[in-house]
Amino acid sequence: MTWIYYDSKTGNVERFVNRLKEHRNWNIQKIDDSLQLIHPGHLITYTTGIGEVPASTLRFLEVNSSFIETVTSSGNRNWGANFAVAATKISQEFKLPVLMQFELSGTMTDLQKFIDNIEGNIYGN
Ligand SMILES: Cc1cc2nc3c(=O)[nH]c(=O)nc-3n(C[C@H](O)[C@H](O)[C@H](O)COP(=O)(O)O)c2cc1C
Repeated sequence: MTWIYYDSKTGNVERFVNRLKEHRNWNIQKIDDSLQLIHPGHLITYTTGIGEVPASTLRFLEVNSSFIETVTSSGNRNWGANFAVAATKISQEFKLPVLMQFELSGTMTDLQKFIDNIEGNIYGN
């Protein structure tokens, strides 16, 4: 069984996972401060500040990073070099592979790539 954990503030990542739900019967759970994982899974979050990881995501990772297999982040290309860097920063700090980065709530192509990468185990390099 595939587990997806996500963080979302303004709804873009939530829209992405809602479309994912229409395509795959995966377990999808929004993170919160009380969540302690028992199932390994994939994290999707967003980028905030000036190229920063949301504090809520960091709190989640401090408790649960050993259960996280890959990280994906949303961003906005208006932020230039800081586009979707939350995943890059998490990857470095917690030694996790980046699955992908997408803009806002993602396109159909992004969604398909996300599914293909997970189903094909295309990450970790
Ligand atoms: C205050 C603020 C700061 C942001 N900073 C960045 C940034 O540094 N890099 C980036 O790519 N996107 C940045 N964004 C865009 C968000 O990452 C993007 O809109 C994302 O899709 C939000 O996900 P959510 O709607 O699930 O919360 C920022 C958005 C806000 C509101």
